[in-house]
Amino acid sequence: MSNRPNAPPAHSLGQKTFALDGREVDLLHYIHSRPDIKQLRGSPQKVVSAIDEYHTKFNPLINVGSVKGAFVTNLIAERKPSVMIELGGYVGYSAILFGDAIRANGGKRFLSIEKNPEAAAVANQLVDLAGLRDTVRVLVGASDEVLRELVGDRKEIAQVEMIFIDHWQKLYQPDLWLLEELDVLVPGKSVLLADNVIMPGAPEYLEWVQATTRQKRELVKKLDVGSLTPNPNLVYETSVSEFDTDFGKDGIAVTRVVGKESV
Ligand SMILES: C[S@@+](CC[C@H](N)C(=O)[O-])C[C@H]1O[C@@H](n2cnc3c(N)ncnc32)[C@H](O)[C@@H]1O
Repeated sequence: MSNRPNAPPAHSLGQKTFALDGREVDLLHYIHSRPDIKQLRGSPQKVVSAIDEYHTKFNPLINVGSVKGAFVTNLIAERKPSVMIELGGYVGYSAILFGDAIRANGGKRFLSIEKNPEAAAVANQLVDLAGLRDTVRVLVGASDEVLRELVGDRKEIAQVEMIFIDHWQKLYQPDLWLLEELDVLVPGKSVLLADNVIMPGAPEYLEWVQATTRQKRELVKKLDVGSLTPNPNLVYETSVSEFDTDFGKDGIAVTRVVGKESV
């Protein structure tokens, strides 16, 4: 039996819906009706700026945004992963920004997992427009199912180099447990970046990545892990960087896998 919570049908604050309500397709119409559409072709930076413009002038979008985006692209330039995975692709803003950085730093692939087929279709269009079709792949489906496929059936991922976790905060911890179970987190190599850990916040995830192995061995006895098999013996080092964003103060947790205890 799965203990995965069901994500709300749309991102909403009280009665106010602010994503996955049609604005994503509207964004596509906006981009294609711009007088500079020809200049956007093949330019990841210009496509990202056009998405930013839509966000500022028309409807806010739940993209990582330029401030946190620059923080992640700097980490990509520093670590130079060959393959990077993202959980929650939305309209492809981060996939374009980070896919471009992966390509610029000699990497091969950015795999963006997105559950909502309409958002994924918009992302695919924009990735294509940005000229990143050879680097970025948008995979439609729930994060846990696609991760299992990538590691198991398709044998595409043997080790996680860098992963950007940005789908739904309640799933951060179970999806990390899944990565632990799949044995793809490698000491000295894997880096996990989790967005929105201050707003809306991901307290269960933060508790896990900030705990010692000893604390995690105790925690795992108390928590409902469903059918998952977390590995409390992986040693993590986590820092949270804070940013002022359009929506308020937020943070990205950077977790480095630094060791594995044998018990
Ligand atoms: C905050 S947005 C991602 C923003 C994107 N990373 C960016 O910065 O441009 C969250 C996305 O996660 C998707 N999502 C929610 N639950 C998911 C799941 N279980 N698997 C994959 N995607 C999911 C939502 O449909 C939404 O598009």
